[in-house]
Amino acid sequence: MTERTASLFDPYRLGDLTLPNRIVMAPLTRNRAAPGNVASALTAEYYAQRASAGLLISEASQIMPEGQGYQDTPGIHSPEQIAGWKAVTDAVHAAGGRIFLQAWHVGRISHTSLQPGGKAPVAPSAIRANTKTFVNNSFTDVSEPRALELSELPGIVAAYRQAAANTIAAGFDGIEVHAANGYLLDQFLRDGANKRTDAYGGSIENRARLLLEVMAAVIDEVGAKRVGLRISPVTPANDLTDSNPQALFNYVVEKLDALKPVYIHVIEGATGGPRDVAPDFDFDALRRRFSGTWMTNNGYDRALADQVLAAGKADLVAFGRPFIANPDLVERLRRNAPLNELDRDTLYGGGAKGYTDYPKLGTAA
Ligand SMILES: Cc1cc2nc3c(=O)[nH]c(=O)nc-3n(C[C@H](O)[C@H](O)[C@H](O)COP(=O)(O)O)c2cc1C
Repeated sequence: MTERTASLFDPYRLGDLTLPNRIVMAPLTRNRAAPGNVASALTAEYYAQRASAGLLISEASQIMPEGQGYQDTPGIHSPEQIAGWKAVTDAVHAAGGRIFLQAWHVGRISHTSLQPGGKAPVAPSAIRANTKTFVNNSFTDVSEPRALELSELPGIVAAYRQAAANTIAAGFDGIEVHAANGYLLDQFLRDGANKRTDAYGGSIENRARLLLEVMAAVIDEVGAKRVGLRISPVTPANDLTDSNPQALFNYVVEKLDALKPVYIHVIEGATGGPRDVAPDFDFDALRRRFSGTWMTNNGYDRALADQVLAAGKADLVAFGRPFIANPDLVERLRRNAPLNELDRDTLYGGGAKGYTDYPKLGTAA
């Protein structure tokens, strides 16, 4: 007897949630938060429009003021921010959806103009990234960071724990810890950015310590069934390098398996770019080390998603850019209908244009 292979449109049990399909909306920063970095009513409308996804993951949201690296990104650390997000999660749930919050600290990918008191951004080591951030409505070089003191690291872990509690208070179904794309937790992981000589630098075990402490704290706070993790083992995003990503991520995933987060979300290749930047990297070796849900992302269309699900190489597939331009992406994929084109000029900042005004199938443009 042959077993039917999984399809994108099959339901999936994720922790205590039943997802109606395997299609996930990837986290997408849109720089439209209201003053105070609060998610607005327009943001609630945007996510509710996309609620037919099996799971929505919110745009990255800073866990503390120092964790912000781009203008007008929402936070999850003040009462106003929690209230703003509560209106979003209510709207998504009313529309029949499910949503996780992506929790980030940008580390060195920031600018003094966004930091409390105009201070330097923080990082594992005082090494400036050769990249830009988005401040004052333009792309600007990131600032020189300062190295975090050893005595400050428990405060970072505590901020993630508090953010997890706030996430649940805001009505989210769970939290995705952002350890991808060259932000703080990724900076600690990689020997290109982490030159520390204490217990958080040097060996792979030491570089993975902060991430594992954060995951343990967040899981302790809200329960493993409500905690996911995002990684991007081979992306060059935000000028981050590592001498041996395979050994590093084999170790990270193996250790995470013991903590049992509900999913690991893996960006395959260069984020938003080629999938084959590191052809020798063995993603299957990571998957073999994790017994929970495996979510993949980067450059997927329906054919590629069908292929990886059929091959058992993923349980869930996240789509980023297609969800910006297609609020009804699930229906379009189901019907093999054409997709709306992405308007690159309205990705970061602005209002409803390019945010909540993309047409659904059968509606006028
Ligand atoms: C406008 C934009 C904003 C993004 N913001 C985030 C973010 O907040 N957090 C994150 O982990 N990835 C972010 N990404 C990366 C996407 O989640 C995704 O990994 C990438 O777009 C590749 O998937 P795709 O080919 O389906 O678009 C962003 C990408 C874009 C285009």
